[in-house]
Formats: sequence, C-alpha cells, structure tokens
Amino acid sequence: MERTFIMLKPDAVQRGLIGAIIARFEGKGCKLVGMKLIQVDRTLAEQHYAEHRGKSFFEPTVAYIMSSPVVAMVWEGKNVVAIARELMGSTNPAVANPGSIRGSYGMDISRNVIHGSDSVASAEREIGLYFSPEQLLSYTKAGEDWLSE
Ligand code: CDP
Ligand code: MG
Repeated sequence: MERTFIMLKPDAVQRGLIGAIIARFEGKGCKLVGMKLIQVDRTLAEQHYAEHRGKSFFEPTVAYIMSSPVVAMVWEGKNVVAIARELMGSTNPAVANPGSIRGSYGMDISRNVIHGSDSVASAEREIGLYFSPEQLLSYTKAGEDWLSE
C-alpha cells in the first residue's frame, strides 16, 4: 500500500491547527501509520529541501521549518501521495482552492501550513529522513473495507 510523508509546519502547530488538519486526512480515509512532534535541526531541514538549494526561498524555508516544533506523519492508502497533494492544495495558500487545507488555513506562500511528498519516490526519501522502519506501524483499521472494492 502506498505511503506519503506529511508535515504540519510550525505555523500549523502554533496556530492550533493540528487536530483540524489531521481530521481532513482521517475523514478522507487515509490511515495514519506514524506520527511524532519534533524540532527539526538545520541538517534535517537542509536535507528535506535539498532539491531547492540555490533558490531564493531555500534559506527562508529552511529557517521556517526549524523555527518551532512540527508534526511529522506518515499516511497510508491507495494513491495517497496524489490524494494528499489534492487535500493540501497549491503551494501558495493565497490562490489555493478554498476547500483545500492551504486554501482554508493560509494567507501567504511563506507560511503555507503543510508539506506533503510530491511523488512516490519523494515519499520514500522523506519518510526515511524522519522515521526508522520500526516507527511505522501496520495494523487493521475499522472501516477500511468500506473505502474501495
Ligand atoms: O511544498 P510544495 O511541494 O507545494 O512546494 P515547493 O515548490 O516544493 O516549495 C517548497 C516550499 O518552499 C513551499 O512549501 C514553501 O514553504 C516554500 N516556498 C516559498 O516560500 N516561496 C516560494 N516562492 C516557493 C516555495
Ligand atoms: Mg515540493
């Protein structure tokens, strides 16, 4: 089953949005298989955003995710990488669909509430940065038989 890495960024934690955002994933039908509240250090932040090194927003974005605790999560489900990106909405909350998480809870691209992997390959890389294999749980969730045929 596919897995994706999701981070509730410092603004989401500080603004008291953890529960509301997790409810979007639970309500959709995604299964939570790993979660922790952590303070990201510079080494991890730079690895997380390695693909953006050299861009103007690299340093501010690294500083942003180091600035306060974040919630790191792994969610599982059929096509969950693409589904999570749809739930999140576009990178810039100012233009994201107002029904999406970024569209609901953000105002500006520099504080866009949530990170989610953009491909299955990115998900594998990002999950490996934040979680060891034994921190990810496999279990049967009530109701999962009712999500697809
Ligand atoms: O997070 P997402 O994959 O949607 O966007 P990205 O293009 O991979 O950019 C990574 C992160 O850098 C964004 O989520 C923003 O936090 C930040 N960013 C920014 O502050 N200003 C930009 N012009 C582009 C990205
Ligand atoms: Mg990205």
